[in-house]
Amino acid sequence: MAIKRKIKELQRKREEVLQGGGEQAIRKQQAMGKLTARERIVALLDKGSFNEYDMFVEHDARDFDMDKKKLHGDGVIVGTGTIHHRPVAIFAQDFTVAGGSLGLMHSHKITKIMDHALKMRMPLIGINDSGGARIQEGVNSLAGYGEIFFRNTLSSGVIPQISVILGPCAGGAVYSPALTDFVFVVENISKMFITGPEVIKTVLGEEISMEDLGGARVHSEMTGNAHFFAKSEEECFMQIIKLFSFIPWNNAEKPNLTALKNPKKEYKIDDIVPADPKLPYDVRDVIRSVVDDSDFFEIQEGWAKNLVIGFGRMGGRTVGFVANQPLFLAGVLDVDSSDKAARFIRYCDAFNIPIITLVDLPGYLPGVDQEHAGVIRHGAKLLYAYSEATVPKLTLILRKAYGGGYIAMSSRHLRADFVFAWPSAEIAVMGPEGAANIIFRKEIKEADDPEKVRQQKVKEYKTKFANPYVAAAKGYIDSVIEPSETRKLLLHAIDVSDKKSISGPSKKHGIPPF
Ligand code: HXC
Repeated sequence: MAIKRKIKELQRKREEVLQGGGEQAIRKQQAMGKLTARERIVALLDKGSFNEYDMFVEHDARDFDMDKKKLHGDGVIVGTGTIHHRPVAIFAQDFTVAGGSLGLMHSHKITKIMDHALKMRMPLIGINDSGGARIQEGVNSLAGYGEIFFRNTLSSGVIPQISVILGPCAGGAVYSPALTDFVFVVENISKMFITGPEVIKTVLGEEISMEDLGGARVHSEMTGNAHFFAKSEEECFMQIIKLFSFIPWNNAEKPNLTALKNPKKEYKIDDIVPADPKLPYDVRDVIRSVVDDSDFFEIQEGWAKNLVIGFGRMGGRTVGFVANQPLFLAGVLDVDSSDKAARFIRYCDAFNIPIITLVDLPGYLPGVDQEHAGVIRHGAKLLYAYSEATVPKLTLILRKAYGGGYIAMSSRHLRADFVFAWPSAEIAVMGPEGAANIIFRKEIKEADDPEKVRQQKVKEYKTKFANPYVAAAKGYIDSVIEPSETRKLLLHAIDVSDKKSISGPSKKHGIPPF
């Protein structure tokens, strides 16, 4: 009898906690198109797999009447469950409880589950819906965030860390996600900023809406802080589940092997790249023409569009793609695209994912804007990331590979394992027009018919350098191949590099141009 009474008491206590911030706050949350924190966890994880911990944790703040406030679960739900039947750790902040703000005990719940995730080598998912550090708790909330940032850094490159932004997130609630591997946002729901509109109005006297300051589109298209954009929370969860189908559970594993599927017939590799090097095309069609089932999972689709990154599978193995995108800015490298590629390369390298690089670019974007924005420093990140990466690196030169772009895009010289080129490849210090204008300037200027001589010199330069054979003659390219041979060769190259093992000189760590 006694145990029955105790079970009833437990049930009553649970019921109380499950009320979160109360009916009114939950209705407000729903009116914004948002699920509650627990609903989000249930929607994301495998059905029935969630187990909650630390449900009865209570805050211990006393100032500003906090001692009179009961904050259920202290505004965050933590636990473990499964995705694809494999274990994951998760926390979800509950905006209905004090705006999901982070006090000391709230932070202890998060750091405890982070420690579990690292110890047990399973991914960590953080659903952020929080006004940041709880103002009433002063330095204790700052300490809480510091502890989270430290653990984010410790876990980086060991277990996957996924952040989902599902509400107005300020301060620490966006800095922790910025330290994680992938950030997911949802239209109209996600907001990310260091200081909110209220603070901006107080300090600067400027009025700006939350959406314009840091809405989902701002971070998917302008800042690059977000990696995946969805139109609803449901779509966002589907994206997360798909991401988990490509990545390993920790850095000691390889991604799951799936059954080989051929690319779809509608992607005809011979017809995608125009022969004229000035004409654009969508490099994603080349990727789709070689990956299993033509399934390419693009990352940061809306930002730095002149370079494409994402996952696909080759013969059932996950690979990361880095490709210049001639549809935008002729596929040049610039500040943002260098950052985008460099970080992704480091992700693939940390988690044992081979990298395939598709090259077609006229070089780095020239101009005062880029120079002053630090293209030297940012561009160098790409050189560093490729040079440092020890996973299998396969390169395919489709068309143009000019100047620094040729070197930076996983060239043999940065230790690509296999470099292939199509017959349409052109490898030179710069485009034939620019090259002829510079090296034959005097002859062109002094000629009776300067334009005719200029054309002649351009042709001469093209014949000499604008082909793959000069590089192939030096062994910088391993094979010049027909487009239709591409998948077969890439599959083979991935197969033979499966056990690749190299190591560099012993050091604590390098000093990349962060
Ligand atoms: C305590 C907070 C809070 C916070 C929100 N609330 N943020 N309580 N500390 N940081 C409470 C509100 O008082 C309110 O309580 C409830 O949550 C809902 O908030 P609203 O303001 O009504 O919601 P909304 O209009 O949607 O605005 C959300 C918001 C705004 C944009 C997040 O609340 C806001 O600007 N909050 C402060 C953001 C901020 O500057 N945080 C500190 C960041 S510094 P009631 O009881 O009225 O329902 C930081 C340090 C780490 O995080 C930095 C690391 C580098």
